Amino acid sequence: MAKEVYVSKAFAVIVVTLTVSAIAAIITMVIVYQNEIAKLNPTPRPTRPAPTTLPTGPPPNMRLPGNLVPKSYELYFQVHLFPTINSSDVNATDQMFTFTGNSTVVFQCVRKTKSIFLHSNNLTLLELSVRDWDTGERLPHSNYVEYHDGTNFLEVPMAEALAEGRNYSLYVDFLGMTQDDMVGVYVSSYEEDGLTK
Ligand SMILES: *[C@@H]1O[C@H](CO)[C@@H](O)[C@H](O)[C@H]1NC(C)=O
Ligand SMILES: *[C@@H]1O[C@H](CO)[C@@H](O)[C@H](O)[C@H]1NC(C)=O
Ligand SMILES: *[C@@H]1O[C@H](CO)[C@@H](O)[C@H](O)[C@H]1NC(C)=O
Ligand SMILES: *[C@@H]1O[C@H](CO)[C@@H](O)[C@H](O)[C@H]1NC(C)=O
Ligand SMILES: *[C@@H]1O[C@H](CO)[C@@H](O)[C@H](O)[C@H]1NC(C)=O
Repeated sequence: MAKEVYVSKAFAVIVVTLTVSAIAAIITMVIVYQNEIAKLNPTPRPTRPAPTTLPTGPPPNMRLPGNLVPKSYELYFQVHLFPTINSSDVNATDQMFTFTGNSTVVFQCVRKTKSIFLHSNNLTLLELSVRDWDTGERLPHSNYVEYHDGTNFLEVPMAEALAEGRNYSLYVDFLGMTQDDMVGVYVSSYEEDGLTK
């Protein structure tokens, strides 16, 4: 009986020694790994940017309100590209990447509303007009409001409520910058004959 206990103790000592060695080895590996990683100068882990502005708008979600139902879209879209990217001359006019265009949306009002909501992001609106589609009459509205709360909503507050059952059109003439951030319309490049194109 006593012998058995003695054997078990010896075994336990070996197991404890092995366990301590294993833990020491793991710690060593972690330290070596961290030292090696530090030498590689890795790109820092991406962090989530803090919201730049607090939500301001009433919209409960990203979806447009159901008061207005689009019937047709007419879109003109032109991208202005230049063949050579010269990073030492970023402010030259032939290094600017833009897109321009206009859109006409015809829609029917199914529930009376004083606001037209649409999605718009990072655009300069050169012109915006709302018309009664049947009479062609231009309808008065206040300055549009952009929501910088992640919804990308643009609101056109109308002077008079749009009437249920009637058809209207919204015309927008826009200008945008083509970014290199892989969002929306963006520019990409390739190498050819030693030049970045
Ligand atoms: C890039 O722009 C710089 C500054 O304007 C100019 O000196 C250089 O020649 C340009 N390089 C090319 C490849 O166009
Ligand atoms: C480009 O223009 C911006 C704003 O005027 C200026 O801050 C920047 O230094 C210019 N970059 C170059 C390369 O000239
Ligand atoms: C929209 O742009 C196109 C192309 O530039 C132009 O022909 C058309 O007249 C514009 N639409 C309106 C309603 O101005
Ligand atoms: C689009 O966003 C960029 C970067 O935030 C900004 O510099 C630029 O002025 C914006 N353009 C428009 C048309 O709002
Ligand atoms: C609006 O357009 C729909 C067809 O899309 C039509 O049924 C309806 O009569 C139009 N409303 C008016 C007031 O003309």
